[in-house]
Amino acid sequence: NEPLYADYIQSHIRTVPDWPQPGVMFRDITPLLQDPKLFRVLVDTFVHRYMDAQLDVVAGVDARGFILGAVVAYELNLGFVPIRKKGKLPYLTVAEEYELEYGSATVEIHTDACKPGDRVLLIDDLVATGGTMLAAYNLLHRLGATVVEGAAIVDLPELGGSKLIRDQGLPLFTICDFA
Ligand code: PRP
Ligand code: ADE
Repeated sequence: NEPLYADYIQSHIRTVPDWPQPGVMFRDITPLLQDPKLFRVLVDTFVHRYMDAQLDVVAGVDARGFILGAVVAYELNLGFVPIRKKGKLPYLTVAEEYELEYGSATVEIHTDACKPGDRVLLIDDLVATGGTMLAAYNLLHRLGATVVEGAAIVDLPELGGSKLIRDQGLPLFTICDFA
């Protein structure tokens, strides 16, 4: 009598109103990571989706995309590439600036993080305005990679990011959404 995995996962995401600032309904995925069964169901959802996708590498976005992306990469027998907030990567980088639901930021990737033609899965925890995922997509694109799909646990469709991402030509998979 297990609920559908999407419902099961969604029902354990915690909503924190007015964090980190008034008006934001923060969708907190930490309960999914904390519970061993939920964590496994979550990771397996992505692993099953991409196990035959002939990927070369998984890229994850700082910071919550690291948690999921690294485990999914490991389970798919692939390497993991971090896309980090500005100033954290020590070697040669390319950078993209973008707007957030609450502020602006810059993401960077090492220039040797992937090779032209590499098939990359791009993972984060959540899509809001889509700025982060599109900036990460642009970075991978600038390195010549083929981004096979963007993937996240949560979509906030009312903020328009998922539509923007798909309109830019990046297929997007999300497990659940909050209207
Ligand atoms: C959050 C989230 C996504 C991004 C989504 O990260 O983890 O990366 O915002 O928002 P967007 O679609 O409007 O770009 P945040 O920048 O808060 O950083 P964190 O992972 O370090 O908490
Ligand atoms: N990143 C951007 N908007 C967010 C939200 N509402 N909840 C969690 N992470 C976010």
